[in-house]
Amino acid sequence: MAVSPPDRRIWWNEPIEKVELVWIFIALLWGLFMFGFMIAWHFIGQQNLSPEAYRIDPGTFQERAEAAAERHKVREEQDVPVVRPPPGSDVYLLGRLWQWWPILELERGQSYRLHLSSIDWQHGFSLQPTNINIQVHPGYEHVLTLTPTQSGEFGIVCNEFCGIGHHTMTGRIHVLEPGQARAGAAAVETAAAAAGGR
Ligand code: CUA
Repeated sequence: MAVSPPDRRIWWNEPIEKVELVWIFIALLWGLFMFGFMIAWHFIGQQNLSPEAYRIDPGTFQERAEAAAERHKVREEQDVPVVRPPPGSDVYLLGRLWQWWPILELERGQSYRLHLSSIDWQHGFSLQPTNINIQVHPGYEHVLTLTPTQSGEFGIVCNEFCGIGHHTMTGRIHVLEPGQARAGAAAVETAAAAAGGR
């Protein structure tokens, strides 16, 4: 079939089909409704990001994250420290090529101040399977008050393309039941006391 001009040369000035007009109108109404709802979502749905963010030198953030991990490390999983910070404390999660570091172990029902930043490129913090999704830049530190409402294992995936290893950039957060956390902490204290007593 050859490419040929339309039969009627003035094709742009034809009347619009009624059904098409109806659909354009429905799309317009929906668009306006959603536009208005952007404001409503600030009040309902509890899906707003924390407005707390600071400029920070990536090196400083790394130092703080490493110091916090050193203080509260309870074990390692595949060479990554598992950090169990005390409830109410500052918790650091560091994004870099290509991991979210370290692994956190939190207690259900307790609040933590979670500090999020990247030390190299732009990364994404997407907490699975919940609907939390944050863009993370080097040089900026987000601080979120986090209160886990559900125990279990949560995954973190990076959803900002950050190079060849992007698809491997993951992390983990364990949320323990309150009793479980205390039993675990007691075991760690006993182990530490035993190690110290030797
Ligand atoms: Cu980090 Cu993609």
